[in-house]
Amino acid sequence: MKKGSEGFKPENLIQSNIPATWKAMEALYDSGKARAIGVSNFSSKKLADLLEVACIPPAVNQVECHPSWQQDKLREFCKSKGVHLSGFSPLGSPGTTWLKSDVLKHPVINLIAEKLGKTPAQVALHWGLKTGNSVLPKSTNEARMKQNFDVFDWTIPEDLLAKFSEIQQASFVHETYGSYRSLEEFWDGEI
Ligand SMILES: NC(=O)c1ccc[n+]([C@@H]2O[C@H](COP(=O)([O-])OP(=O)(O)OC[C@H]3O[C@@H](n4cnc5c(N)ncnc54)[C@H](OP(=O)(O)O)[C@@H]3O)[C@@H](O)[C@H]2O)c1
Repeated sequence: MKKGSEGFKPENLIQSNIPATWKAMEALYDSGKARAIGVSNFSSKKLADLLEVACIPPAVNQVECHPSWQQDKLREFCKSKGVHLSGFSPLGSPGTTWLKSDVLKHPVINLIAEKLGKTPAQVALHWGLKTGNSVLPKSTNEARMKQNFDVFDWTIPEDLLAKFSEIQQASFVHETYGSYRSLEEFWDGEI
């Protein structure tokens, strides 16, 4: 965005130069001002392009990740390159209407929650941890914060874990409207 500008107005966008930005971040790391440097919202392609030119690989790629946006290909790619995947909006950001993924209301999540005596949020968070990423839930409510920490000393058995593959992945796909006609086209084959 243009220096000093506020908000996401299209006219405030400038050309990005990821290699130059990364070089500046590497300088911060080398100077000791940053203990680790990473990226956010990088696809496998963007990450691969960065790794080609980086002296210090990103420690982390923070991307949206939850049962309705499982990021399988990106997860595999990050793992193969030693970049930690950290999942933001791990509960599917309930309350936001634009994604309409309704993770916490999904029948599969609710079935598993009922069987295990856990809440849908705990099931979504545990799934993230079990698949190997970290999870970054946000809550302003003390009881829900505590609930979101209680996801470590129990597990989802394999037969229930397999059910996560039945969950349709979120998208902006429509056969007539918008830019994308298929999930593959929208996610560049990465879901
Ligand atoms: N890097 C990026 O581009 C990017 C983009 C988006 C978000 N993020 C980060 O990701 C983090 C979380 O994202 P998010 O807030 O969009 O999504 P989220 O954590 O999936 O959802 C937060 C919502 O879930 C509710 N909630 C929390 N715990 C719950 C529980 N146990 N049961 C039911 N509802 C629960 C919260 O309400 P209450 O507060 O009322 O509990 C809040 O409305 C934030 O730190 C955000 O900064 C990063």
